[in-house]
This record gives sequence, structure tokens and C-alpha cells, in this order.
Amino acid sequence: MASIVVLDYGSQYTRLITRRLRELNAYSVILSGTSDLAQIAAQEPKGIILSGGPQSVYAAGAPRLPAGLLEAGWPILAICYGMQLIAQAVGGTVKPSQLREYGKVGLKSYQGELFKHVEGEFVAWMSHGDSVETAPPGFAVTAATVSTPIAAMEDAERGIYCLQFHPEVRHTPKGSVLLENFLARCGLSRDWTPEHITQRLIREVRQQVGSERVLLGISGGVDSSTLGLLLHRAIGPQLAAVFVDHGLLRLGEADEVERALRELGVNLTVVEASERFLTALKGVTDPEEKRKIIGREFIAVFTNEAKHQGPFKFLAQGTLYPDVIESAGGHGAAKIKSHHNVGGLPKELGFTLLEPFRTLFKDEVREIAHTLGLPAHLRDRHPFPGPGLAVRIIGEVTLERLSVLRRVDDIFISALREFGLYHETWQALAVLTPLRSVGVMGDGRTYAHTVALRAVSSVDGMTADWTRLPHEFLATVANRIVGSVPEVNRVVYDITSKPPATIEWE
Ligand code: XMP
Repeated sequence: MASIVVLDYGSQYTRLITRRLRELNAYSVILSGTSDLAQIAAQEPKGIILSGGPQSVYAAGAPRLPAGLLEAGWPILAICYGMQLIAQAVGGTVKPSQLREYGKVGLKSYQGELFKHVEGEFVAWMSHGDSVETAPPGFAVTAATVSTPIAAMEDAERGIYCLQFHPEVRHTPKGSVLLENFLARCGLSRDWTPEHITQRLIREVRQQVGSERVLLGISGGVDSSTLGLLLHRAIGPQLAAVFVDHGLLRLGEADEVERALRELGVNLTVVEASERFLTALKGVTDPEEKRKIIGREFIAVFTNEAKHQGPFKFLAQGTLYPDVIESAGGHGAAKIKSHHNVGGLPKELGFTLLEPFRTLFKDEVREIAHTLGLPAHLRDRHPFPGPGLAVRIIGEVTLERLSVLRRVDDIFISALREFGLYHETWQALAVLTPLRSVGVMGDGRTYAHTVALRAVSSVDGMTADWTRLPHEFLATVANRIVGSVPEVNRVVYDITSKPPATIEWE
């Protein structure tokens, strides 16, 4: 499929470039800056974008342009480090600098093909050390700031456009006009719309699967539910969707997911296994131990069901593009929690993986969910951890404690929706602590549990800040909880960011 290839030189904004292009309905993919020409050509590029990067082009071992890239004739948009690479490659000079220019600046002047249709003041986001000192032959300088005389340059004839600043970030408000101009120059048809993506995925699934059968695990989250719908559209009864109910979901959630998928016609089996999970979790208090047990039990139940309903050639998974980029980039974060082991199935099962969402971002999956008719409240739900409420109950997980937490959580989440605050926060949750304290209710003394509420703002869960929910709202929720959940007499609100805390308490 025709694309824009973004070559990554290590900029923190590389993914954002792809996001912006997709917002403009242009399909784009990220490849490493060290890719060779054959790898790039395999993506059928109509144009190339070179990302920024933290290095200086003078540093030993600094990444270079792929051999033959300039001769291949694709239009190129080179950003920051990319611009310096171009300058160096075609006869310009780059001025090294120890100092970084960082922040918003107004362009003193701008012109040229890339700035077509831009009017008025242009604010640009700069984040660079080195800069281009003399433009290469054939290049016209097309923008300047007070401190950067060559803030943009282009050789319109060859289709090479260079920007010292970042058009992809929100701090460059008119940056998308430049990206649109580049897309126009590339002649890429802008048909990356939810309807088109959906039709394309359906075609591809049919092609890949043929007349074979596909197994899919439903977790209740948006990715697997949407995948269920997509596969149902594509292959109907060749799909067997299995929802293992581990008994650790929110109030009414298992029913809701089941009802929605069944109404939409998905061939779904619900395996009610809550007793099995609870028995396995009996007496366990260590968070990692809980995760391990839940992961192990899940695999056992799921595999059993697969055997029962099998054989299957394919196992479908809702892997998303960020997971693909991350594993390709060898992104190595310290292991704080063993998140993604839950639900991961052993390779020995011998399935062929079917991952139709491998090229998509989460919000694109949400748009596809919309196209396929998944109800809004399932589509736009906050993230929810695989081990569910087990990691929100500090200490042992029991039926009674689950019941308390479910009621508290339901009051909190329903109130967020009622007050129109649900989408003001990225994730919200309640935690049942083992702490008991003294309270007074009517004329009597109480000695009951403390629950904590947590709501965070985040982009991807890697870092987060606590959401400043209105005090009036928090007061209402606390009153409702203590008023209707007799096991609880104290409500606290968690005001730590991540880091140093994590989002979940366990
Ligand atoms: P933490 O607590 O690590 O959470 O700050 C970051 C995001 O990951 C979710 N999370 C999990 N997801 N299995 C999952 O599938 C897990 O074991 C797990 N632990 C945390 C958490 O809800 C948040 O969105």
C-alpha cells in the first residue's frame, strides 16, 4: 500500500509525525533511520520524512542517510537532524553548537512551496543544538528566525524540503499545513479513513485466513472486542471468540461485553471460571504472585477451551502499532510489573498469529469500533488491567472484598460519567486498602475500611499526573460511597504522580 515512510533517527516526536499524517488521512509507517533502500522501497513510499534526532551529524557513529536515498527520487521532508543530514550530504555546512535552542519562536519570514497557504504569524517549536550554516547549492532558504538564519530551506525542483523546527508538534500550530503541502507534492491519495481501513482489514483477513478457523480471546477491552467484530464481519462462523470470565471485572462488565458482542452476531463462548481463579488466589497477597497465578490460570482455561472447540489454525491478537514499534526498537524499560504476561499464550500451542491491528494506533481502533457498531460506552472505556480488580485489592482477594470494591468503583465511575468528567481523565479507579479506621455514623461508632480513589491524566500510561477533579465532585462521591457501602467509612484521593508512584497500587 502506498505510504509515507518516516525514517526514525531517535526523535521523541517520531510517532507523532505518523499520528499527524494519519490525522490527515495519509498512511505512514516508521522505519529505522538505518534501513536500506530495499526495506524502504518495500513500503511503496510516495515520499520520505526524516525525523529529528538527539545526535550531532559530527558525532562518531551518528546515523547517516540510507545509501541511494537521494538518488531514488522520492520527495523528502527533512526535520531537524534530518535537515542537517541533508545539508551535509549535498554540499551545505552544519554549524556545531553546544547550546540547545528549545522552545517556541516566531518565524521572521517564510516563503516557498512548503509554506503555501500559510498566512499570518507562524510560531515554530525548536529543539536543536546544531544548525545549517550555509544552504547547499540549489536550495533556497525559505524561513528564518532571529537566532536561526536558516530555519527552513528547499530545493523544490528535486522535491527536498528541510525544516529546522518541528511541524508535527502542537506547539507549531500551523505545522499541519506544511505536512499537507508535502503530501500534495508526494501525490499520495489521502484515503486512510476508518471506513477504508475497515474494508481493507476485512479483505486482508479473508485472504490470509481462507477457509481456516480462528480463535480469539476476548478480554472486555476495546481492542479485543473490536477485533471480534472485525473478524465476525470478515469470516463469520469461522471465528470462535472465547471470553474467560475470571471474576475480577467491574460490576456488570462481563455481562455488558457479552451482550454487546452477541447482539452484533459474534460467535462467542463465555467460560465462567471465577471460582477457579478465586481458589487459586486464596491466601495470596504478593502482587506479582497474583499476576502469575492469574496468567497461569488464564492460559489453562483458555487452552482447555481451545482444545474443546478446536482445531484452529489461527490465534487472533489485538497487537497495536506502538507494541510493534517498541519491540522492534528494543525499548528496554526496567521491569516494574509483569503487565503483559497476563493473557500471553505460550508459543508451543502452535497457532499461527493473526494480528490485523498491527499497523494501527489505539484511537484508530476506536474509530474502527465506531464503524463496526461497537456501543460508545464500550468503545471509549478507560484502560483496565488484565488481572482486573485483583491488583486493586491490597492483600488477599476474596469474594467479600471483591464485592466491596465493585460497589465503590461503580459509584465512582458512574459519577464520573454523570458529571461529564469521565473523558477528562485517562484512567480512574478505586482501591480497597486493608486499613480500617474509626468513624461515626448516626450515633454509633464504626470501624471500617478505607478506600482510595485515583484518577490520572496520561498519554500512554508510561507517565501520569493525578487529575485535579473538582472538590465538589469528590465530596459527592465520598458521601455516596460511605452512605451506601457500609463496609467503608473513609475515602481518600490519591495525589501522587507517576513516577514516583505507579497508576495501579499493586
Ligand atoms: P502502572 O500501574 O504500571 O500501570 O502504572 C500502567 C498502565 O498499565 C495497566 N496495568 C496493567 N495492564 N496487566 C495489564 O494488562 C497488568 O498486570 C497491569 N498492571 C497495570 C494499568 O491499568 C495502567 O493503565
